[in-house]
Amino acid sequence: MKSVVRTAAGGPEVLELVERSVPEPGPGEVRVRMRVSGVNPTDWRSRGRPLPPEMKEQVPHQDGAGVIDAVGPQVDPARVGQRVWVWEAAWERPWGTAQQYTLVPDKQAVALPDHASFELGAALGIPALTAHRALTVHDGGPGRIAPGTLHGATVLVAGGAGAVANAAIQLARWAGAQVITTVSSPAKAELARAAGAHRVVNYRTQDAAAEILAVAPEGVDIIVEVAPEANAALDMCVAARGAVVAYYSGAEGVQLSVPVLTSLSANLRWQSVFVYTVHPAAKRQAVTDVAAAVDAGALRVGEEAGLPLHRFPLERTRDAHAALEQGIVGKVLVDIP
Ligand SMILES: NC(=O)c1ccc[n+]([C@@H]2O[C@H](COP(=O)([O-])OP(=O)(O)OC[C@H]3O[C@@H](n4cnc5c(N)ncnc54)[C@H](OP(=O)(O)O)[C@@H]3O)[C@@H](O)[C@H]2O)c1
Repeated sequence: MKSVVRTAAGGPEVLELVERSVPEPGPGEVRVRMRVSGVNPTDWRSRGRPLPPEMKEQVPHQDGAGVIDAVGPQVDPARVGQRVWVWEAAWERPWGTAQQYTLVPDKQAVALPDHASFELGAALGIPALTAHRALTVHDGGPGRIAPGTLHGATVLVAGGAGAVANAAIQLARWAGAQVITTVSSPAKAELARAAGAHRVVNYRTQDAAAEILAVAPEGVDIIVEVAPEANAALDMCVAARGAVVAYYSGAEGVQLSVPVLTSLSANLRWQSVFVYTVHPAAKRQAVTDVAAAVDAGALRVGEEAGLPLHRFPLERTRDAHAALEQGIVGKVLVDIP
């Protein structure tokens, strides 16, 4: 089979297209014939880090979609033939989704209904599970996303044209929240509106705090934050009492500085979100809720859903990484032959 692998840390050039034998699923594993592999910033970031000593090589990409074609011991054989989306395939494992067949633990291959495309399936894992956590981690929150669970809440999503932000807007809308988002350009504003945001604010050209407070005079309850260091002052200004700033991004060495007394007197929660290490019970709930949102048609991809798709063949996985690293807007996907 064709696999993309890396044996070293570095730029896109460390990714090699190679031939490997089709692996056999072990106990508790399923083998998935991949159709589409989803690329996330985590994939190019981790490509730059050395492999753990026990791994000789690794196939990149956490997310993907395809069809189960074999199962190992202790897995229901009826799963063979099931369309699935895959999450965290390459987290502390050598088997990513940038290859024709991959192996994942049974629970990490989730049924994908016939009406949902493989493109959608490959775009779910990292963005939707991260967005779910950010939307459910607040004090007294429902811990789950379903119609009505965020009724009455106002959510601010920073950077509404990003992949995680897109999932956050769609999930928050499905849950019944009022959704406000910030963007840096008119083109990104169009995407954020297509995702379903009620109000879109250009943080470069408008007074973001005034615009947000005009819609939510009591402040916002949940902030899904991609740039905590840049937006801490804005977040403080628009947060309601008891709000959460759920931040999920940060580069090496970046410091977050918040005024303790103001934060304390408003009972604000500054909450980090790192999808891989979310508590297993919360992760299970996220997978369940995201699958339900897909079933209900509440999660979509493509320009009309605010998430343009950029497709690359497997042999151009290096270009897919480079495009994402250079800040392409939308979802980068790799088609598996
Ligand atoms: N912690 C986790 O578990 C986790 C999970 C997924 C992703 N991440 C990280 O989260 C980041 C985003 O991932 P992604 O897949 O959503 O990337 P993406 O699709 O490239 O989106 C990033 C978005 O952030 C926006 N942005 C940057 N600075 C901003 C600011 N000051 N205010 C408002 N928006 C701002 C960008 O738009 P403008 O620059 O035009 O505003 C862009 O739309 C990456 O660094 C990724 O590694 C972390």
